[in-house]
Amino acid sequence: MIFYFSGTGNSRYVAQALAEALDEQLLAIAECLNTGNLEFSLEAAEKVGIVTPVYFYGLPSIVEEFLDKVQFNRSSSMYLVVTFGSFTANTGPHAQKMLSEQGRQLDYLFSIQMPENYVPLFKVPASETRTQLFAEAEKTIAQIVQSLKENKIGDHDTSKGKFPRLVSAVCRQLYRGGMTTKKFWVTEVCTACGLCARLCPVAAISLADGKPSWTKEKCPRCLACLHRCPVEAIQLGHLTKNKERYVHPQLSE
Ligand SMILES: Cc1cc2nc3c(=O)[nH]c(=O)nc-3n(C[C@H](O)[C@H](O)[C@H](O)COP(=O)(O)O)c2cc1C
Ligand code: SF4
Ligand code: SF4
Repeated sequence: MIFYFSGTGNSRYVAQALAEALDEQLLAIAECLNTGNLEFSLEAAEKVGIVTPVYFYGLPSIVEEFLDKVQFNRSSSMYLVVTFGSFTANTGPHAQKMLSEQGRQLDYLFSIQMPENYVPLFKVPASETRTQLFAEAEKTIAQIVQSLKENKIGDHDTSKGKFPRLVSAVCRQLYRGGMTTKKFWVTEVCTACGLCARLCPVAAISLADGKPSWTKEKCPRCLACLHRCPVEAIQLGHLTKNKERYVHPQLSE
């Protein structure tokens, strides 16, 4: 069983590729939380996979919430595959600690570099770089499949960067304090199509007088609304103006 969360499609692509290669059921974390589908039966020796982007050098808040709530009928081997833009810092070990406090064990950790989507701070990589990242990702996915089939447990994340614990500790504070939706705004090019509201994994957007407004105080900051608006009307503060938007090619098919 593989659970995934994804804002712009990178992690969804990886999760789908793993599910196909391993012949596993694929479930969307946001849908499980929204429908209250949080109890699952596992076959004997069945592994549980979690595929998610790295947010502020840790897990997205929605993934933490899911891991806190999900129940399985038996204990199982778990693996975490994170997609990231630059490096992962302490994401894996932190998830391992969190799960062990819940009486669960994270046996495998993997990471896959994908195009960066945090446009308030960075730029989306150029198209040639994206093509290279996708080609490398294919190889890493094949290695992960092999490792899982061979039951090679352990931490296979080689992209933690320098001072991972310190970096994560500082940035997690920023994430928890900065998940506010107050800085989202919409330019006049909005066509009131409603796509942003339909896509939001936590129903934080409503269409009031035809234009989106953010009705929840906080959200996980997945940036699906900002990247996937067809007319690029959504901005976050003033740092996303004139920045290229990004979705994984599989989402735009
Ligand atoms: C809120 C937010 C925070 C992010 N923080 C990090 C980070 O700490 N380190 C990193 O390498 N990439 C970071 N990224 C980039 C994403 O992890 C990366 O682009 C990921 O592949 C996006 O996955 P998705 O397309 O499935 O949403 C961040 C992206 C977002 C939206
Ligand atoms: S997706 Fe874009 S155009 Fe459509 S309602 Fe939202 S902001 Fe407006
Ligand atoms: S409001 Fe936008 S950034 Fe926040 S969770 Fe919804 S889609 Fe993601």
